[in-house]
Amino acid sequence: MPPSSPADAAERRGVIHIQNLQKVYRTGFLLNQRVSTLRGCSLDIWEGETFGLLGQNGAGKTTLLKVLLGIIRPTGGDGTLLGKPLGDRTVKHRVGFLPENPYFYDYLTGWEFLEYAAGLFQLPADVQRKRIPDLLDLVGLSRASARKKQLRQYSKGMLQRVGMAQALINDPDLVFLDEPMSGLDPLGRYQIREIITSLKAQGKTIFFNSHVLSDVEQVCDRVGILAQGELICVGSLQDLLGTANVYHVKVCHANPDALKQWLPDVEFKDNCWQGHLLGMPHDFLSSLHLMDGQLLAMTLARPSLEEFFVQQLHQRGITASQ
Ligand SMILES: Nc1ncnc2c1ncn2[C@@H]1O[C@H](COP(=O)(O)OP(=O)(O)O)[C@@H](O)[C@H]1O
Ligand SMILES: [Mg+2]
Repeated sequence: MPPSSPADAAERRGVIHIQNLQKVYRTGFLLNQRVSTLRGCSLDIWEGETFGLLGQNGAGKTTLLKVLLGIIRPTGGDGTLLGKPLGDRTVKHRVGFLPENPYFYDYLTGWEFLEYAAGLFQLPADVQRKRIPDLLDLVGLSRASARKKQLRQYSKGMLQRVGMAQALINDPDLVFLDEPMSGLDPLGRYQIREIITSLKAQGKTIFFNSHVLSDVEQVCDRVGILAQGELICVGSLQDLLGTANVYHVKVCHANPDALKQWLPDVEFKDNCWQGHLLGMPHDFLSSLHLMDGQLLAMTLARPSLEEFFVQQLHQRGITASQ
């Protein structure tokens, strides 16, 4: 969560800070064409926060992540990662990264691949002996098959899991995940969400890219929407979707005249009374109890993140991935 007061800000440390970040790719045979991929992005991410960056394909999400990681240099603007300028190598051991399309060494077993990743961080053998099986358990891969099976025999879901274990091999404070749920079935997505939740519980800061809104909606403290290289909005779901004080209510066995005082638009539909309640759910429920009414459903009537996302893109005249 972002700090809400200056006192909070002093206590919570900033992990990522970027200011007016820009990236222009040069393409074409003579490198004379320019693709402006990031257009002045500014953002702060706080310690322990889970941040989801949403955007259509081609919006610039992977580019932003690579700039943060120091894999590519920005064309303009600047920023810091864990208090050091972007690209500073001294923070690498505190950062984990699951790329969008990881390259795996096909003929290594899952276990050997994790040993290789651990070697890049120069983890001592005794640490590796404990951490590799722990991570395999965390991502839901069997220890025995990780010892035997080569990565070329892994399914897409298993590769995504081993990629996730690789991203955590150095026990990072800050984890970047580029489309971590892509290509997974519903159970696989659920398991990745569970892993993110458990990392969050350990106090890690997580930054992940996704074009799947429901994944972001369920695990993130804050979300940002990137459209054509611009961060068009950033905030908690409550900030973006509005305060949750309008409810859609369904009841039965209630007196419509009494109901009308609470639900001005009440109507009989689908065998029950339905309408919108503005705030005061407790008072309404007590009153419903007194009139012997029965509550069938009460749901927040704010727009979904998906509706909000589409609305934001429409307002800017963006209709399809470009
Ligand atoms: N190395 C590159 N050279 C030229 N253009 C690139 C390069 N990488 C990405 N792009 C362009 O930048 C835009 C954003 O790409 P990307 O960051 O991968 O978006 P996303 O991850 O949101 O799908 C796209 O138009 C893409 O074609
Ligand atoms: Mg991408």
